[in-house]
Amino acid sequence: MDLESYVRVLPKAELHLHIEGTLEPELMFELARRNGVALPWKSVEETRAAYAFEDLQSFLDLYYAGAAALVCEEDFFDLAMAYFERAAADGVVHAELFFDPQTHTARGVAYETVLNGLERACATAQRRFDISSRLILCFLRHLSEEEGFATLAQALPQVARIHGVGLDSSEMGHPPSKFARLFARCRELGLHVVAHAGEEGPPEYIIEALDLLQVERIDHGVRAFESPALMARLAGEQMPLTVCPLSNVKLCVFPTLADHNLKAMLDAGIKVTINSDDPAYFGGYVGKNYVDSAAALGLGREELKRIARNSLEAAFVSDAERAPWLARLASIEA
Ligand code: ADE
Ligand code: ZN
Repeated sequence: MDLESYVRVLPKAELHLHIEGTLEPELMFELARRNGVALPWKSVEETRAAYAFEDLQSFLDLYYAGAAALVCEEDFFDLAMAYFERAAADGVVHAELFFDPQTHTARGVAYETVLNGLERACATAQRRFDISSRLILCFLRHLSEEEGFATLAQALPQVARIHGVGLDSSEMGHPPSKFARLFARCRELGLHVVAHAGEEGPPEYIIEALDLLQVERIDHGVRAFESPALMARLAGEQMPLTVCPLSNVKLCVFPTLADHNLKAMLDAGIKVTINSDDPAYFGGYVGKNYVDSAAALGLGREELKRIARNSLEAAFVSDAERAPWLARLASIEA
């Protein structure tokens, strides 16, 4: 079996995926036309050509501009179905989708419109592809904690429709401590909690996410590498990191994939997972993230299997749901 086929047959969970980041330019243009929305680009080709980023913010500026094409419930349904189709082809058995309600409510799109479309896609994906999924509401960290509380208030009447909360958008200057009260409230509500930390921000932001937000996973976390004490803590606590290798290269966190610290973190005993972040913008879905990382870093098949196992173990599902996936994974020969 070649490497691509081997990666494809590994049952895996995708735990770091912004659904707005799966908006391919073709669908973006189709939705913009359907909704009469003007985009800042003239064509699909011009849009793709604009995807040369120098840092997280230069990406976010385009990502928020593209999200303007999403208006109706059907748009969110079509968006998520396009993702699930690709995920199924990559052997994803479970996906936890981040969504950014504030990006949409700020443009007058109702919270329910977003949720209805995504939820209907999740149910359809279960039937059509046998992929289970969860929705994780992300707060935009460049906005205030008060605005985060207002978003939580919108979600509250139907809080059971979401499974957890996360924290994304511009990291520098917006430390996890800014959202300590909001996350405490979310934990009281029984929601799972995760946060982006240590993508561009320093190791201290990871420590704040652990100690103040009490997160159950760290999204990215690659700058933990600068602190041996934090590395030892992450390994000791078996704290999952949702690493996104192609994203990190596109956003210039590492100069090339060969420079990525994913293998070093794995070797240090950290519970690393591989994910795609915003695959429409970063040049590849989760399968390509596994394959390209393996090629650039010399990951062996047992290591790829371990990463897939980590993803299943770190998923917010019951042990009864997890067991058949783990059994299937264990049966695969390297
Ligand atoms: N929103 C979408 N993708 C993101 C990323 N990689 N980091 C922070 N916020 C994001
Ligand atoms: Zn992300």
